[in-house]
Amino acid sequence: MDILKVLRAVEEVEGKLGSLYASYCEWFQSDPEAAALFNRLSREESAHRNAVRFQITMAGQNRGDFKDLEVDLEAIRGLATLIDQARNAKVPPTLEEAVKLALQFENEEAAKHYRSTLIKASNPNLTSLMKSFKSLGSADGFHLRSLEEFAAKRGFLAAAMEVSRPTLAPSP
Ligand SMILES: [Fe+2]
Ligand SMILES: [Fe+2]
Repeated sequence: MDILKVLRAVEEVEGKLGSLYASYCEWFQSDPEAAALFNRLSREESAHRNAVRFQITMAGQNRGDFKDLEVDLEAIRGLATLIDQARNAKVPPTLEEAVKLALQFENEEAAKHYRSTLIKASNPNLTSLMKSFKSLGSADGFHLRSLEEFAAKRGFLAAAMEVSRPTLAPSP
């Protein structure tokens, strides 16, 4: 998979998440704590998008240095589609639903960045790119913790745990 295609898909996810959180910030204006949380997440996703844009520029200028990658591009694009669906929902979500969706997306986002560490095996010259991906991954871990804390505080904990720890859930 071409490095630029992967980076553009990641850039899209970061941008779409930033927009989704910005709309949640507007929808929950009457709840200052919720609005502040989504405002911070939105600004940070925009910063992630800018970091990925920088990497796109770098990779574009050094195209020959980058080999094809083993990355599941469709999974990254699938996440972008899910975020779009949430953003285009006709009925605004309740705060609990929004927090639950955000937890789901942050879990996915962190996993996608982690998967991108495969890039390192493909090309040892990509150290700076990998550092960038790792810092994006840990930023999303921080987003997850903020959302989990907020969910616990508002009594959404059961829902939050269900979403953020899917592998621990017993199968029906
Ligand atoms: Fe992000
Ligand atoms: Fe995030």
